[in-house]
Amino acid sequence: MGISGIDSLTYGVADVAASRRFFEDWGLTLLDGAPDSAPVLQLADGGTICLRAASDAALPALPPGYGQAPPSTMREVIWGVHHASDLQAIEAELGRDRLVTRDADGTLHTRDDLGYAIGFRVTRRKALTHEAVRDNGPGRIGRIDARAEAALPYRVRQQRMVHLVYWVPRQSQQMLQFYVERLGFHVTESVKNVGHFLRCGASGDHHNLFLQTRGDNFGFQHVAFELRNIDDVMFCGQHMEQQGWKSHLGPGRHVLGSNVYWYFWCPAGGIVEAGCDLDFITDHWPAKELEVVPAGGSSWFVRAEDAGLRPGHGDWPQFKA
Ligand SMILES: [Fe+2]
Repeated sequence: MGISGIDSLTYGVADVAASRRFFEDWGLTLLDGAPDSAPVLQLADGGTICLRAASDAALPALPPGYGQAPPSTMREVIWGVHHASDLQAIEAELGRDRLVTRDADGTLHTRDDLGYAIGFRVTRRKALTHEAVRDNGPGRIGRIDARAEAALPYRVRQQRMVHLVYWVPRQSQQMLQFYVERLGFHVTESVKNVGHFLRCGASGDHHNLFLQTRGDNFGFQHVAFELRNIDDVMFCGQHMEQQGWKSHLGPGRHVLGSNVYWYFWCPAGGIVEAGCDLDFITDHWPAKELEVVPAGGSSWFVRAEDAGLRPGHGDWPQFKA
Protein backbone atom coordinates (compact mmCIF):
# COMPACT_ATOMS: atom_id res chain seq x y z
CA MET A 1 0.00 0.00 0.00
CA GLY A 2 3.00 2.35 0.15
CA ILE A 3 2.18 3.82 3.56
CA SER A 4 5.33 5.54 4.81
CA GLY A 5 4.42 7.15 8.15
CA ILE A 6 2.42 9.76 10.02
CA ASP A 7 1.65 12.95 8.10
CA SER A 8 -0.72 14.73 10.45
CA LEU A 9 -2.73 14.41 13.66
CA THR A 10 -5.87 16.33 14.58
CA TYR A 11 -6.74 16.78 18.24
CA GLY A 12 -10.01 17.93 19.78
CA VAL A 13 -9.10 19.72 23.01
CA ALA A 14 -10.63 21.42 26.01
CA ASP A 15 -8.03 24.22 26.02
CA VAL A 16 -6.70 25.22 22.60
CA ALA A 17 -4.32 27.89 23.93
CA ALA A 18 -2.71 25.58 26.50
CA SER A 19 -2.36 22.81 23.93
CA ARG A 20 -0.75 25.20 21.46
CA ARG A 21 1.68 26.43 24.11
CA PHE A 22 2.55 22.83 25.00
CA PHE A 23 3.43 21.89 21.42
CA GLU A 24 5.43 25.09 20.91
CA ASP A 25 7.40 24.29 24.08
CA TRP A 26 7.76 20.72 22.78
CA GLY A 27 9.58 22.03 19.69
CA LEU A 28 6.99 22.54 16.96
CA THR A 29 6.57 25.73 14.94
CA LEU A 30 3.26 27.58 14.76
CA LEU A 31 2.19 27.98 11.14
CA ASP A 32 1.11 31.41 9.96
CA GLY A 33 -2.35 31.81 8.55
CA ALA A 34 -4.31 29.38 10.71
CA PRO A 35 -6.91 30.98 13.03
CA ASP A 36 -6.19 31.18 16.75
CA SER A 37 -9.17 28.90 17.32
CA ALA A 38 -7.64 26.14 15.16
CA PRO A 39 -3.84 26.47 15.17
CA VAL A 40 -1.58 24.23 13.12
CA LEU A 41 1.93 23.39 14.28
CA GLN A 42 4.64 21.95 12.10
CA LEU A 43 7.60 19.61 12.51
CA ALA A 44 10.90 19.80 10.64
CA ASP A 45 9.77 17.24 8.07
CA GLY A 46 6.55 19.15 7.32
CA GLY A 47 4.29 16.90 9.41
CA THR A 48 1.56 18.76 11.28
CA ILE A 49 -0.44 18.83 14.50
CA CYS A 50 -3.87 20.43 14.05
CA LEU A 51 -5.66 21.65 17.20
CA ARG A 52 -9.38 22.32 17.43
CA ALA A 53 -11.83 22.89 20.25
CA ALA A 54 -13.39 19.59 21.35
CA SER A 55 -16.78 21.19 20.69
CA ASP A 56 -15.94 21.77 16.98
CA ALA A 57 -18.62 19.94 14.99
CA ALA A 58 -16.19 19.47 12.10
CA LEU A 59 -14.05 17.07 14.16
CA PRO A 60 -14.38 13.36 13.43
CA ALA A 61 -16.64 11.75 16.02
CA LEU A 62 -15.03 9.72 18.79
CA PRO A 63 -15.00 5.97 18.19
CA PRO A 64 -17.81 4.07 19.92
CA GLY A 65 -15.47 2.28 22.37
CA TYR A 66 -15.06 5.31 24.64
CA GLY A 67 -17.21 4.73 27.69
CA GLN A 68 -16.90 8.38 28.62
CA ALA A 69 -15.83 11.11 26.20
CA PRO A 70 -12.39 12.41 27.22
CA PRO A 71 -12.19 16.21 27.40
CA SER A 72 -9.17 16.18 25.07
CA THR A 73 -7.79 13.54 22.77
CA MET A 74 -6.38 12.81 19.35
CA ARG A 75 -9.25 12.52 16.88
CA GLU A 76 -7.74 11.56 13.51
CA VAL A 77 -4.42 10.41 12.10
CA ILE A 78 -3.51 11.03 8.48
CA TRP A 79 -1.04 8.44 7.19
CA GLY A 80 1.21 9.47 4.30
CA VAL A 81 1.62 7.34 1.17
CA HIS A 82 4.15 7.65 -1.63
CA HIS A 83 1.90 7.81 -4.70
CA ALA A 84 -1.63 8.65 -5.83
CA SER A 85 -1.91 5.02 -6.94
CA ASP A 86 -1.45 3.97 -3.28
CA LEU A 87 -4.44 6.13 -2.35
CA GLN A 88 -6.53 4.51 -5.05
CA ALA A 89 -5.56 1.06 -3.80
CA ILE A 90 -6.52 1.98 -0.21
CA GLU A 91 -9.79 3.53 -1.36
CA ALA A 92 -10.68 0.39 -3.31
CA GLU A 93 -9.68 -1.97 -0.49
CA LEU A 94 -11.41 -0.20 2.40
CA GLY A 95 -14.37 0.86 0.26
CA ARG A 96 -15.40 -2.78 0.14
CA ASP A 97 -16.81 -2.71 3.66
CA ARG A 98 -16.88 0.87 5.00
CA LEU A 99 -17.51 4.46 4.03
CA VAL A 100 -14.42 6.14 2.54
CA THR A 101 -14.71 9.83 1.68
CA ARG A 102 -12.29 11.95 -0.32
CA ASP A 103 -11.56 15.65 0.37
CA ALA A 104 -11.20 18.27 -2.34
CA ASP A 105 -7.43 18.02 -1.76
CA GLY A 106 -7.50 14.26 -2.30
CA THR A 107 -7.19 13.14 1.35
CA LEU A 108 -9.12 9.96 2.17
CA HIS A 109 -11.05 9.65 5.43
CA THR A 110 -12.45 6.50 6.99
CA ARG A 111 -12.41 4.39 10.19
CA ASP A 112 -10.39 1.40 11.33
CA ASP A 113 -11.94 -1.68 12.86
CA LEU A 114 -12.32 -0.16 16.34
CA GLY A 115 -13.75 3.03 14.89
CA TYR A 116 -10.70 5.28 15.21
CA ALA A 117 -10.75 7.96 12.50
CA ILE A 118 -7.94 7.43 10.00
CA GLY A 119 -7.02 9.15 6.76
CA PHE A 120 -4.51 8.90 3.95
CA ARG A 121 -2.87 11.36 1.59
CA VAL A 122 0.13 11.59 -0.68
CA THR A 123 2.73 12.58 1.86
CA ARG A 124 3.63 16.23 2.31
CA ARG A 125 6.60 15.33 4.47
CA LYS A 126 10.13 15.69 3.17
CA ALA A 127 13.03 13.33 3.76
CA LEU A 128 15.34 14.62 6.48
CA THR A 129 19.12 14.58 6.36
CA HIS A 130 21.45 15.30 9.25
CA GLU A 131 25.17 14.94 9.72
CA ALA A 132 26.33 12.40 12.28
CA VAL A 133 27.12 13.85 15.69
CA ARG A 134 30.83 14.69 15.88
CA ASP A 135 31.78 13.26 19.25
CA ASN A 136 34.94 11.99 20.81
CA GLY A 137 35.71 8.70 22.51
CA PRO A 138 38.59 6.36 23.25
CA GLY A 139 40.46 5.90 19.99
CA ARG A 140 37.88 7.92 18.06
CA ILE A 141 38.19 11.67 17.53
CA GLY A 142 35.23 13.20 15.72
CA ARG A 143 35.63 16.81 16.87
CA ILE A 144 38.90 18.74 17.11
CA ASP A 145 39.48 22.22 18.53
CA ALA A 146 35.77 22.83 18.90
CA ARG A 147 33.11 22.63 21.61
CA ALA A 148 30.27 20.16 21.21
CA GLU A 149 27.00 21.59 19.91
CA ALA A 150 25.36 20.43 23.15
CA ALA A 151 27.96 22.15 25.37
CA LEU A 152 25.57 25.09 25.47
CA PRO A 153 21.77 24.77 25.81
CA TYR A 154 19.58 25.18 22.73
CA ARG A 155 15.91 24.81 21.86
CA VAL A 156 15.15 21.61 20.02
CA ARG A 157 13.06 21.24 16.89
CA GLN A 158 10.90 18.11 16.67
CA GLN A 159 11.91 16.31 13.48
CA ARG A 160 9.05 13.94 12.68
CA MET A 161 6.27 11.88 14.20
CA VAL A 162 7.33 8.27 14.28
CA HIS A 163 4.63 6.21 15.97
CA LEU A 164 1.14 6.12 17.44
CA VAL A 165 -0.16 3.98 20.27
CA TYR A 166 -3.76 2.98 20.83
CA TRP A 167 -5.18 1.05 23.74
CA VAL A 168 -6.76 -2.01 22.21
CA PRO A 169 -9.09 -4.38 24.10
CA ARG A 170 -7.65 -7.79 24.82
CA GLN A 171 -9.88 -9.67 22.41
CA SER A 172 -9.19 -7.33 19.53
CA GLN A 173 -7.14 -9.51 17.19
CA GLN A 174 -9.31 -7.84 14.58
CA MET A 175 -7.30 -4.61 14.79
CA LEU A 176 -4.05 -6.44 14.10
CA GLN A 177 -5.57 -8.15 11.08
CA PHE A 178 -7.00 -4.87 9.78
CA TYR A 179 -3.65 -3.09 9.73
CA VAL A 180 -1.69 -6.09 8.44
CA GLU A 181 -4.09 -7.62 5.94
CA ARG A 182 -5.96 -4.54 4.75
CA LEU A 183 -3.26 -1.84 4.93
CA GLY A 184 -0.01 -3.75 4.48
CA PHE A 185 1.61 -3.07 7.88
CA HIS A 186 4.30 -5.54 9.02
CA VAL A 187 4.57 -7.01 12.52
CA THR A 188 7.99 -6.27 14.00
CA GLU A 189 7.34 -8.00 17.29
CA SER A 190 4.52 -9.02 19.57
CA VAL A 191 4.54 -9.48 23.33
CA LYS A 192 2.06 -11.87 24.93
CA ASN A 193 -0.76 -10.01 26.69
CA VAL A 194 0.98 -6.67 26.00
CA GLY A 195 0.54 -5.86 22.32
CA HIS A 196 1.84 -5.71 18.78
CA PHE A 197 4.49 -3.43 17.28
CA LEU A 198 3.79 -2.72 13.59
CA ARG A 199 5.63 -0.76 10.94
CA CYS A 200 4.15 0.71 7.80
CA GLY A 201 4.74 -1.24 4.60
CA ALA A 202 7.06 1.46 3.26
CA SER A 203 8.91 2.20 6.52
CA GLY A 204 12.03 0.90 8.23
CA ASP A 205 11.02 2.22 11.65
CA HIS A 206 10.83 -0.49 14.33
CA HIS A 207 7.24 0.61 14.84
CA ASN A 208 4.88 3.23 13.50
CA LEU A 209 1.92 1.78 15.35
CA PHE A 210 1.71 -0.04 18.67
CA LEU A 211 -1.54 -1.75 19.58
CA GLN A 212 -1.28 -2.00 23.36
CA THR A 213 -3.50 -4.06 25.63
CA ARG A 214 -4.07 -3.36 29.31
CA GLY A 215 -7.35 -4.57 30.78
CA ASP A 216 -10.27 -2.71 29.26
CA ASN A 217 -8.32 0.42 28.38
CA PHE A 218 -9.48 1.94 25.14
CA GLY A 219 -8.44 5.03 23.21
CA PHE A 220 -5.50 7.05 22.03
CA GLN A 221 -2.48 6.67 24.27
CA HIS A 222 0.49 8.48 22.76
CA VAL A 223 2.35 9.78 19.76
CA ALA A 224 6.14 9.62 19.57
CA PHE A 225 8.28 12.38 18.10
CA GLU A 226 11.78 11.76 16.84
CA LEU A 227 14.68 14.05 17.64
CA ARG A 228 18.18 13.99 16.23
CA ASN A 229 20.07 12.55 19.20
CA ILE A 230 20.11 12.03 22.94
CA ASP A 231 21.13 15.62 23.70
CA ASP A 232 18.00 16.80 21.89
CA VAL A 233 15.88 14.47 24.04
CA MET A 234 17.49 15.80 27.23
CA PHE A 235 17.13 19.45 26.21
CA CYS A 236 13.50 18.84 25.21
CA GLY A 237 12.59 17.24 28.53
CA GLN A 238 14.56 19.77 30.56
CA HIS A 239 12.80 22.64 28.81
CA MET A 240 9.36 21.06 29.29
CA GLU A 241 9.93 20.66 33.02
CA GLN A 242 11.23 24.23 33.27
CA GLN A 243 8.00 25.38 31.61
CA GLY A 244 5.97 23.49 34.20
CA TRP A 245 4.80 20.53 32.08
CA LYS A 246 4.60 17.19 33.86
CA SER A 247 6.89 14.30 33.01
CA HIS A 248 5.17 10.95 32.73
CA LEU A 249 8.17 8.64 32.40
CA GLY A 250 11.82 9.13 31.58
CA PRO A 251 14.39 9.75 30.48
CA GLY A 252 15.39 6.18 29.72
CA ARG A 253 15.99 3.70 26.92
CA HIS A 254 13.52 1.09 25.71
CA VAL A 255 14.47 -2.52 25.11
CA LEU A 256 11.96 -2.99 22.27
CA GLY A 257 12.97 -0.55 19.54
CA SER A 258 16.13 0.44 21.47
CA ASN A 259 15.05 4.06 21.43
CA VAL A 260 15.84 6.67 24.07
CA TYR A 261 12.58 8.09 25.49
CA TRP A 262 11.08 10.81 27.62
CA TYR A 263 7.29 11.02 28.00
CA PHE A 264 5.13 13.96 29.09
CA TRP A 265 1.45 14.32 29.87
CA CYS A 266 -0.12 16.38 27.09
CA PRO A 267 -3.00 18.84 27.59
CA ALA A 268 -4.24 17.92 24.09
CA GLY A 269 -4.80 14.35 25.28
CA GLY A 270 -2.80 11.30 26.24
CA ILE A 271 0.96 11.50 26.45
CA VAL A 272 3.71 12.43 24.02
CA GLU A 273 7.12 10.81 23.70
CA ALA A 274 10.35 12.46 22.65
CA GLY A 275 12.95 9.96 21.46
CA CYS A 276 15.84 9.05 19.26
CA ASP A 277 17.91 6.13 18.02
CA LEU A 278 15.06 3.79 17.09
CA ASP A 279 15.95 0.45 15.48
CA PHE A 280 15.79 0.45 11.67
CA ILE A 281 14.14 -2.73 10.43
CA THR A 282 14.27 -4.45 7.05
CA ASP A 283 12.57 -7.52 5.60
CA HIS A 284 15.51 -9.56 6.94
CA TRP A 285 14.12 -9.08 10.47
CA PRO A 286 11.75 -11.96 11.27
CA ALA A 287 8.63 -11.01 13.23
CA LYS A 288 9.41 -11.88 16.84
CA GLU A 289 7.02 -13.25 19.46
CA LEU A 290 8.03 -12.59 23.06
CA GLU A 291 6.57 -13.98 26.28
CA VAL A 292 7.56 -10.90 28.29
CA VAL A 293 9.23 -7.55 27.73
CA PRO A 294 12.92 -8.12 28.62
CA ALA A 295 14.51 -6.22 31.50
CA GLY A 296 11.19 -4.69 32.54
CA GLY A 297 11.10 -2.63 29.35
CA SER A 298 14.00 -0.24 29.98
CA SER A 299 17.72 -0.97 29.70
CA TRP A 300 18.39 2.14 31.79
CA PHE A 301 16.45 4.94 33.39
CA VAL A 302 17.45 7.98 35.36
CA ARG A 303 14.79 8.35 38.02
CA ALA A 304 14.51 5.68 40.70
CA GLU A 305 10.72 6.07 40.75
CA ASP A 306 10.60 4.93 37.10
CA ALA A 307 11.76 1.41 38.02
CA GLY A 308 9.37 -1.16 36.56
CA LEU A 309 7.06 1.45 35.02
CA ARG A 310 5.95 1.36 31.39
CA PRO A 311 4.57 4.04 29.09
CA GLY A 312 0.92 4.57 29.89
CA HIS A 313 1.14 3.61 33.54
CA GLY A 314 -1.23 5.36 35.87
CA ASP A 315 -4.94 5.97 35.87
CA TRP A 316 -6.70 6.45 32.54
CA PRO A 317 -10.32 6.50 33.73
CA GLN A 318 -11.61 8.37 30.71
CA PHE A 319 -10.36 5.68 28.41
CA LYS A 320 -11.98 2.66 30.02
CA ALA A 321 -14.84 1.18 28.06
FE1 LIG B 1 6.25 5.07 22.15
